[in-house]
Amino acid sequence: MNEIATNELEEKIAEARHKIVGASNIAVLTGAGISAESGVPTFRGQEGLWQNFRPEELATPEAFWKDPKLVWEWYEWRRNAVKEAKPNPGHYALAELENETPQFTLITQNIDGLHQMAGNRNIIEMHGNLWQVRCTKCGDLEENHDVPMAELPPRCPKCGEIGRPNVVWFNEIIPMEVIDGSLKAIEECDVMLIIGTSGIVEPAASMGLVAKQAGKCVIEINLEPTPSSPLYDLILQGKSGEILPLLYTTNRTYS
Ligand code: APR
Repeated sequence: MNEIATNELEEKIAEARHKIVGASNIAVLTGAGISAESGVPTFRGQEGLWQNFRPEELATPEAFWKDPKLVWEWYEWRRNAVKEAKPNPGHYALAELENETPQFTLITQNIDGLHQMAGNRNIIEMHGNLWQVRCTKCGDLEENHDVPMAELPPRCPKCGEIGRPNVVWFNEIIPMEVIDGSLKAIEECDVMLIIGTSGIVEPAASMGLVAKQAGKCVIEINLEPTPSSPLYDLILQGKSGEILPLLYTTNRTYS
């Protein structure tokens, strides 16, 4: 990055920090980009999952009922890829920010559980969680961190029916309480941060627009511009693991 760009970014970071430190209510939306520096593959990046796998064959209810074992083998592969991942400084900075902000809501599209591991508490998991299995018949929800899993597909401990990953697939709707909770957090916030998401998949893709229409200050952190970037107040272009700690200085060191 040349000197001018660095100075410009530093000025924008100072402006963003001023907005954030002065806010009493912050809403954050995160995507796969915040976990990239933890070694978790994104979806649409160069090495993204959708470069190598076809979502319609692995991440739809139709694909699951056509071949539950195949879909579980893929989730087993993803669980294996994520099981060693640790939160990075970006995750930790958001946990610190929650500790220091009177009201804070983290809306994530990520299913990797790294925000919880970093210490965030008020989290809305829009797309579910990789470490949960939901029964396809009785709806029983089990936390399961076994890699490899004992049986594929896993069976429900309550009714014996097959379980599915507790994630939201394409062609599926997101539970209303999740949408309502996200919109309430946006409507009530002073500042919204949008971090590491390509802004393509709905309804998350429209949340920045909702915030702007509600007169909120929106700050985007991403390696590159996204379709909605022109709408936002501040664009901080770079790695979230490097920029987020600058937005909120702490004395902690991260191992
Ligand atoms: N720091 C900041 N941003 C980053 C970083 C980084 N270190 N690395 C990548 N990015 C950005 C990319 O530029 C891209 O805009 O993160 C974004 C990742 O985009 P996607 O791979 O499309 O992931 P996401 O937006 O979370 O996808 C949304 O799509 O496939 C479905 O359900 C899946 O939740 C997912 C949803």
